[in-house]
This record gives sequence, C-alpha cells and structure tokens, in this order.
Amino acid sequence: MLELVDVRVAYGRTEIIHGVSLDVPQDGVVAVMGHNGAGKTTLLRAAVGLLPVTRGKILFDGEDITGLRPAARVARGLAYVPQGQQSFGQLTCSENLQVVADGRRNGRNLIANMLDLFPALVPLLDRRAGLLSGGQRQQLAIARALITEPRMLILDEPTEGIQPSVVAEIENTIVELSRSGDLGVLLVEQHIGFALDNALRYYVVESGRVTSTGAGGTEAARTVREAMAI
Ligand SMILES: Nc1ncnc2c1ncn2[C@@H]1O[C@H](COP(=O)(O)OP(=O)(O)OP(=O)(O)O)[C@@H](O)[C@H]1O
Ligand SMILES: [Mg+2]
Repeated sequence: MLELVDVRVAYGRTEIIHGVSLDVPQDGVVAVMGHNGAGKTTLLRAAVGLLPVTRGKILFDGEDITGLRPAARVARGLAYVPQGQQSFGQLTCSENLQVVADGRRNGRNLIANMLDLFPALVPLLDRRAGLLSGGQRQQLAIARALITEPRMLILDEPTEGIQPSVVAEIENTIVELSRSGDLGVLLVEQHIGFALDNALRYYVVESGRVTSTGAGGTEAARTVREAMAI
C-alpha cells in the first residue's frame, strides 16, 4: 500500500539515501533496521513529505504522492510518529489529544478509544506532556497519531530509551493494531527481537542503501544480526 520506488534523498548536495525501494502492505508490520546514521529517519521523513526526494517515487494505494505536502498525505491516511516522543510539552495530555481530535466528527469517541488502547494515559490526562516519562510520552504520541484514523502508521524508534516493561506494552499494542487488519505499520526499530518477531518483512539499511531484506519472524533474527554485524 505504501511503496517507495528507488528513492533518493539529499540534504543540500549531500545525498543520504541512494535509491531505496520498499513496500509496506495494508496490514502487518514492516521493519526497517540499521545502525545510527544509516538514514532511517531521513527515509521516513521523505515518505511523509517532510523532505523532498531528488529521484524516485512514493506511491500510496497506487497513487503517486511524491509531490504532495505532508498534510495531504495525512489526509490520505498516513500518520507519522517522529523519533523522540514529541508532543506539545506545555499542554496537558488531554489537550494534546484534543487538538488532534478537534474538527473530527467522532473526536470524542476517538479519544475514548485511545484511552482504552493506552490505559496508562488515563490517570495522566491533566498532567503536562512535558512532565511525562519517555514511555508515557511515546504512548501519547502514538495515541495522537492514531486519532487521525490512519491506514498506515509510521513509527521512528518508538521504544528508544524506554524501560523494558513499557516497551513490551507499546510493542503489544502496535502488533494488536496491525493484526486488526486495517492498519499497516512501517517501523524503524533497533530492538531486533521485537521488530523481527512481529514483522512480515524486514529491510536492513546501511549508508542509505538496502543491504538485506527478507521475511520477518524469529528465524530472521540471526540473518539480520549477521547482516548488521552485531
Ligand atoms: N538536517 C540534516 N542536514 C544534514 N545532514 C543530516 C541532517 N539530518 C541527518 N543528516 C545526516 O544524514 C545521515 C542519516 O541520518 P538519519 O537521522 O537519517 O539516520 P538514522 O538512521 O535515523 O540514525 P539514528 O538511528 O541515530 O536515528 C547522517 O549522516 C546524518 O548526519
Ligand atoms: Mg533516526
């Protein structure tokens, strides 16, 4: 459903992504792995329209969205949770959810659904987002993205710097959502175990190129560790 075709991305004259192709179906998780600086975030930013591509194409549901602004991509059903758990730090959790839900017909229901999905947020609704822990902020960020009712959720290292018990909670929620059948997930993740166990397919990105790809599952972990030399 989301397809990157031979995409190249540059900062100024420095090309960082040297022709990457990948395919994310409409349900299930696709994992992108790679070392720090490999170009994972750059690739995601291009996919959601925050960076232009210099060559190649981005297709969503078969439509060429390469030239569309980020907001138009969101309207078509792409949602992006950037690396680093960003929300409006001065606003409360409740307000952070409300600003996304405002203007949506079923806004109130959407917020209620998110609180079912992330019950840890319920006691935090009146707390400023800036005061939350990393794990709590990540759950809030994912909830905000899901309120836009996306068909494709793009997550950049959602478990980075988060304690293991909360990581497990976030992982389970992501997998549950993707298995519900109407959400594709493009996941950048350095936790190889989780990403691969649950992924339909993985891509290893090194220095802006895909150096290994294959079916996900527990068997894939060894191949990927070898490919990444860790
Ligand atoms: N705004 C920018 N201007 C110039 N170069 C940049 C910019 N942002 C990133 N880069 C460079 O692009 C390369 C890829 O960075 P990117 O953030 O995409 O890597 P990453 O795989 O997401 O790494 P990490 O795992 O640390 O998040 C790096 O060499 C980085 O220094
Ligand atoms: Mg990154």
